[in-house]
Amino acid sequence: MNKSINELLTEMTLSEKASICAGLNMWMTKGIERLNIPPVHMYDGTNGIRKTNSDEEMGITTENVPATCYPTGSAIGSSWNTDLLYEVGVALGRESKAMDVELLLGPGVNMKRTPLGGRNFEYYSEDPCLTGELGASFINGIQSEGVGASLKHFAGNNQEFEKMVTSSEIDERTLREIYLSAFERIIKKSDPWTVMCSYNLLNGTYTSENEHLLNDILREEWGYEGVVLSDWTAVNDRIRGLKAGLDLEMPGPAHYNTKAIVEAIQNGALSEEQLNRSVARVLKLVERVTSNQATDSYGDQNYHALARKAAAESIVLLKNENAILPLQPDSISSIAVIGRFAKKPRIQGAGSAKVTPTRVDIPWDEIKELAGATVTLGYAEGYPEDDAIQEDLIKESVSLAMNSDVAVLFVGQPEYAESEMRDLKSIDLPEHQVKLIQAVAAVQPKCIVVTSSGSALVMRPWVQLVPGVVHSWLSGQGMGRAIAEVLFGQENPSGKLSETFPVKLSDNPSHMRIRGENGKLYYREGLFVGYRYYDRKELAPQFPFGHGLSYTSFSYTDLEVAQVEKGVTVSFQLKNTGKRKGKEVVQLYVHDEECNWTRPEKELKAFAKIKLEPGEKRRIVFELEERDFSYYNTKYNRWVAESGFFQIALGSSSRDIRITERLHCNFGKEEVTFHKFSLLSEWLSDSTAKKVLEECLDEMNEHVTDKVYLNEEFVGFWEDFPVVKLFQMFGQNWMIDRSPDEVIQELIERVEKAR
Ligand code: BGC
Repeated sequence: MNKSINELLTEMTLSEKASICAGLNMWMTKGIERLNIPPVHMYDGTNGIRKTNSDEEMGITTENVPATCYPTGSAIGSSWNTDLLYEVGVALGRESKAMDVELLLGPGVNMKRTPLGGRNFEYYSEDPCLTGELGASFINGIQSEGVGASLKHFAGNNQEFEKMVTSSEIDERTLREIYLSAFERIIKKSDPWTVMCSYNLLNGTYTSENEHLLNDILREEWGYEGVVLSDWTAVNDRIRGLKAGLDLEMPGPAHYNTKAIVEAIQNGALSEEQLNRSVARVLKLVERVTSNQATDSYGDQNYHALARKAAAESIVLLKNENAILPLQPDSISSIAVIGRFAKKPRIQGAGSAKVTPTRVDIPWDEIKELAGATVTLGYAEGYPEDDAIQEDLIKESVSLAMNSDVAVLFVGQPEYAESEMRDLKSIDLPEHQVKLIQAVAAVQPKCIVVTSSGSALVMRPWVQLVPGVVHSWLSGQGMGRAIAEVLFGQENPSGKLSETFPVKLSDNPSHMRIRGENGKLYYREGLFVGYRYYDRKELAPQFPFGHGLSYTSFSYTDLEVAQVEKGVTVSFQLKNTGKRKGKEVVQLYVHDEECNWTRPEKELKAFAKIKLEPGEKRRIVFELEERDFSYYNTKYNRWVAESGFFQIALGSSSRDIRITERLHCNFGKEEVTFHKFSLLSEWLSDSTAKKVLEECLDEMNEHVTDKVYLNEEFVGFWEDFPVVKLFQMFGQNWMIDRSPDEVIQELIERVEKAR
């Protein structure tokens, strides 16, 4: 573009302005040749680039242009490694440039409300702090290469069932603290060039035209100035959408809506100024994209190595009894490798995030290579592609396992189970796999189960039968190598669960309301999503949020916490106390002990992945801000940190807290806003109001028999009573010519004056 946005706005015709606010086709915005405005090319990109063979096709069920397939969201979410996310983002930015992609439609950062969510494999975690930090690093990486990112799906799209016609009914506090919090963090820390609205309605209004969401919160409160684009066909009423701040309708060409925009301006339903705001944002995006520097060329080999590294960081060692892992090739002579996934790994989920990989590491090949020539490897398929139980496959596996030193079983959710557009039916392993594990474990005590899925799994029927469990998620094209490296110890596992694995599905807090009914889905569990719920209910999960074992061990000592001007500084000593180098994910949780409002037992507020050599120690420092101690107060419609005692807990998982400290924090005091029904406790919590009330009661006591003294006993009984009602109860003989309302009004005025 060789003209400024303002110049272009004056030169563009009304219909050119309307047309630039919709796509040209499936994957491009509309350029305007006469004014030298080029189009923007965008493609899906959450765990890799999904560039279709033509710009007219959706390409969901076909092969697309090959690109590196990185671990899916839930997998890389379990790396807890912000540097890794940045590195993958940079690589995706570079690969995008080499493929002429200017805007990547990702990452998806919706919270995992239920493990049945069909797109859970795309999303990072059940916690907004973890998701927010990872998402921001990923976007900073992509955009550092001059390629845009699209933060999606904004917001409240946490399951697939009837999502296009269902309203997610979420109370404001839960919305702010759980479902919007990661988006907010990412907007502030990485300023994504675009945000993609979701398909669903939020509290009764489509997010594509939701003023409260797009305008009040995203633009006004968070100061977002980039482009908001629609998810593919998420536009409902285009004019309402534009007014609410939905700039770009995708896909195009949206002939009818483009005409509707022109007409709305002509008949006064929409002001040209409102349209100009969106046009200017789209032009700004074009400007950003075109200032992108020339591309370097990067060989596929580099990306594949990174895909392997990312997969290795994502894998979680869930169980390792008697140090069954890592396998030592010098002390075993044979390994039974069992299960179809060993030769046909599931590396990703289905739908718009599905990448056509450049190559795929096969676990069997990689195990063979790392086991070396001295170890004999046998393979048994274990179970068929469909759900049938084939006893012959189980028998064959049992006999192989019996005649080998160790058995490694590859199992997981079947291919068809995890996909965009439909939720999972179950998080149990298919019956034929459960039977297989049980049968093999009965004859071979040295059994290691490698599970693949994009969501949590129920392991209750078999987990106690085997000493080793490795969860490999859906970790992209380098997953096969990474699994082999974890099994043989070339890689010391360092992933930690980014979501809770429940004992059974019905333990999950959303279990009573997973599906919407008649177009509404009530998020009645409120704040208590994921570990926040299991903690509150004192319910033991199978494997808790943040859990993941290592081949080494770490100690946490010398915790120091101090309130400083801007928040709280936390520091402690972390030491690698084992014999191998390794990485520990240290997790910092905060609990408000005294708040008047319900607060979770623990909330993740900071984390870091630290690499240490054996015996090495390091002082780890976290700086917390006032916001980390706050909750969203719907009375004042803002974040509030209440002074009082907080617990700071540091641990290796949400259920393996190693060291804690209590700290009294003083935060600025909220000024109470008084109204007719303000409670006695509220009047007493404000020193000015307390004084005014005491004066008033002195005056009243002179005229009534039932006198009111604000002593401990009286306050203890009446504190939750509105003061106006106290006047009705005790002061009738004093208020002969005045109503209780008038007295309260006078008191409120006196408080305001005294402030
Ligand atoms: C998905 C988006 C995706 C878009 C384009 C939609 O169905 O929800 O995540 O970016 O299609 O493929």
